Amino acid sequence: MMLAGLCLLLVSAQALVGQQEPLGAETKHLTLTHDLIGLHKNLTSIESITGNEKAVGDFLVSSFQSQGYSVERQYVEKKPDRFNVLAWPGKQKEHAKVLVSSHIDTVPPFYPYKHHKDVISGRGSVDAKGSVASQIIAVNSLLESGKISPDDVALLYVVGEEVGGEGMRAANDLGLKPHSIVFGEPTEGKLASGHKGNLMVQLTAKGKAAHSGYPWLGRSANEVLVKSLAALMELGANLPESEKYGVTTFNIGRMEGGVASNVVAQDAKANIAVRIAEGTPASMKSEITKVINMAVVSFLKDDLEVEDVIEISFPTTGYGPIDIDHDIPGFESMTVNYGTDIPQLNSTVEGQKRYLYGPGSILVAHSDHEMLTEKELEGAVAGYEKILLHVLGKDA
Ligand SMILES: *[C@@H]1O[C@H](CO)[C@@H](O)[C@H](O)[C@H]1NC(C)=O
Ligand SMILES: *[C@@H]1O[C@H](CO)[C@@H](O)[C@H](O)[C@H]1NC(C)=O
Ligand SMILES: [Zn+2]
Repeated sequence: MMLAGLCLLLVSAQALVGQQEPLGAETKHLTLTHDLIGLHKNLTSIESITGNEKAVGDFLVSSFQSQGYSVERQYVEKKPDRFNVLAWPGKQKEHAKVLVSSHIDTVPPFYPYKHHKDVISGRGSVDAKGSVASQIIAVNSLLESGKISPDDVALLYVVGEEVGGEGMRAANDLGLKPHSIVFGEPTEGKLASGHKGNLMVQLTAKGKAAHSGYPWLGRSANEVLVKSLAALMELGANLPESEKYGVTTFNIGRMEGGVASNVVAQDAKANIAVRIAEGTPASMKSEITKVINMAVVSFLKDDLEVEDVIEISFPTTGYGPIDIDHDIPGFESMTVNYGTDIPQLNSTVEGQKRYLYGPGSILVAHSDHEMLTEKELEGAVAGYEKILLHVLGKDA
């Protein structure tokens, strides 16, 4: 008797609590997590260097499923172990008015997760798992409080941002039509107003091996390369400045050439990243080709053409500077010098807005001391909530 009575009491108390919950009928299927630090820890603890995103993707899928979201794995380049994760709390992903997105791959090498006092470190803690965790918690909190409805949002987490953007390019096939997209990358809690363009250049110098005592019998690929790179450095120093983005920069990130000091080098290569502040990749490509053609003239003996001594290739299409929407009151804005997935995702809706925001600083992002504070993470949850409410017109 007593036991039964107690049970009844408990049940009615629970029913009462249930009634007081702000979750309406349309969110009843959701059991949302609000554990920001725990979610960030789980994400950051999983190594996910570009190409190896499966484990973190699987974690996200099961996390979303256990919270009641619908989830889709979108396989990228037909590889069974590489997929984007799309999650939506509402009825149909196509209905989502806003898309929240970031990437789940990181640069190498892996550094383990550490949490000491207020400071959290580890590979990906900033770029971009800080964004991923705070986006999910922000969406959950808005759903829980009933400030947004499940059909307002979808969340997309892509692979391959750090290398070629293949994950986000694949996302063009998802058939989404959000009027606004919120991209997550470290912006120190500010709204990015734009970022520089990007172009990759690969130079392959072709020489002719000979004994170093008789260099006139050969052609040094190293000399061809060095002259070409010097011409590029000079070009880089003389390009027009942009008021918004500053100067275009050339980074000669990798060089190799030759086999030994006493052999005229037969092969030499360099990889260069150009961060474009002004103009288009097409104009940059033609400038680069022009100055290199001039730089190698002295090697063009015996009917040789430029292509016979150096090959100039552009492994990616590249893109010019990207302007980003930043028309939300209450945020500072800034330009950033890194590339993002934004140019990979085609606009599918007339006037579609794109925002870029996230916790932590890019200055530590690819370093061995990648870290952020609990406060920055929590601040980003508040920031994402504010952005979402604004773009959904629910902040009045
Ligand atoms: C994090 O992982 C632990 C261990 O698997 C799990 O118990 C916990 O629910 C997870 N939390 C979140 C928020 O993902
Ligand atoms: C959309 O994106 C894909 C992949 O990046 C690209 O091939 C295509 O040309 C784009 N379409 C339009 C209409 O811009
Ligand atoms: Zn990133």
